[in-house]
Amino acid sequence: MKAITWHGKHDMRCEHVPDPRIEHARDCIIRVTSCAICGSDLHLYNGVIPDMHTGDVVGHETMGEVVDVGPECRNLKVGDRVVIPFTISCGECFFCQNGWYSACERSNPDAEKASKLWGHSPAGLFGYSHLLGGYAGGQAEYLRVPYADVGALKVPAGMPDEQALFLSDIFPTGYMAADFCGIRGGETIAVWGCGPVGQFAIRSALLMGAGRVLAIDTIPERLEMARAAGAETLDFGKVDVYDAIQQRTHGRGADACIDCVGTEPYTMSGLDAVVDRVKVATYLGTDRPHVLREAIQCCRNFGTVSIVGVYGGYLDKIPFGSAINRGLTFRMAQTPVQAYMTKLLKLIEDGRIDPSFVITHRARLEDAPGLYETFNAKQDNCIKVVLTP
Ligand SMILES: NC(=O)c1ccc[n+]([C@@H]2O[C@H](COP(=O)([O-])OP(=O)(O)OC[C@H]3O[C@@H](n4cnc5c(N)ncnc54)[C@H](O)[C@@H]3O)[C@@H](O)[C@H]2O)c1
Ligand SMILES: [Zn+2]
Ligand SMILES: [Zn+2]
Repeated sequence: MKAITWHGKHDMRCEHVPDPRIEHARDCIIRVTSCAICGSDLHLYNGVIPDMHTGDVVGHETMGEVVDVGPECRNLKVGDRVVIPFTISCGECFFCQNGWYSACERSNPDAEKASKLWGHSPAGLFGYSHLLGGYAGGQAEYLRVPYADVGALKVPAGMPDEQALFLSDIFPTGYMAADFCGIRGGETIAVWGCGPVGQFAIRSALLMGAGRVLAIDTIPERLEMARAAGAETLDFGKVDVYDAIQQRTHGRGADACIDCVGTEPYTMSGLDAVVDRVKVATYLGTDRPHVLREAIQCCRNFGTVSIVGVYGGYLDKIPFGSAINRGLTFRMAQTPVQAYMTKLLKLIEDGRIDPSFVITHRARLEDAPGLYETFNAKQDNCIKVVLTP
């Protein structure tokens, strides 16, 4: 089959690889009908995620049609249309039973390696390194779905792929980011990053009753999309973000601050971001947490900092004194997608949100390498790419 494979920094290729097969009784195989490139894939593309191997198949936002099912996968049959969460979860372990699917203790065969780095291992993920299971990803013609009985959600007949596809990742992720803020009604929520994840965080916060969303980025078309949702926007290239948030919140700060940027902010985001860049380039640091620092400083006393932008290692110069002395709450996670999917599917069915709003580019699977470049460089007004094998 054809699949998108990783070959090092800025080198994604469309290649022929062996077709996947059922390896376990709870697996299914899907023929991919749509898949997407995620901001998390850019961390692979930019070479900041460790333990990728040459030829690894990438992609973790995928849906398609079941073409083969293992004997223990009783709720699926050939022909079902399904969307696949990016987290691989058994549904039975302590963590899955608690709804913490992204911490499944059975799905990461590389758990020992991950534990050395992080103390404990999270779940395995599709197409996301040999620290997280080395699973082949879904930017491909076919995908093997482990634990498919809990890892594949049936899509209602008549719902187009473009409405269902983002249940795999960015819609639950943006929704969870807003959920972490404990919105009761009327709050001011600041969102850093108006990429696809930020766009879903903005819309989710407003759906939950936030009074005001302040959306921060510098890319005009992304700020425009945030305004279309009802957010007020701040261009960090033009205004001082801290001052602008202070002005809009009677000098208190935002009730909650959401980081939808993670470890790869622009180097020109601030002086500290330049220093981080130098430190990472010279192996003196692992991450570039400019946005996290800013989010902490901009959060009101006893407010919440919600983090869904991805970080990898040991973060330097975090203003922890600010957080402890002012009573901040931190919430963060790789999204336990299975815990959110059914609820969010209902929001789509009820017409409360149409996730396809975020798509700007539609292309064939073989066009992915060029589109990685376009999406990474934020060229051609690119916000979200959907690929059809
Ligand atoms: N926690 C999870 O489960 C999960 C799931 C999906 C994605 N993610 C992560 O979420 C993050 C965003 O993903 P995305 O798909 O939206 O990616 P993206 O790269 O399209 O979006 C990032 C946005 O941040 C903006 N940005 C850069 N520097 C900034 C700054 N200083 N202040 C404000 N904005 C700034 C960029 O212009 C861009 O629009 C990534 O780190 C991704 O890995 C996490
Ligand atoms: Zn993702
Ligand atoms: Zn589990």
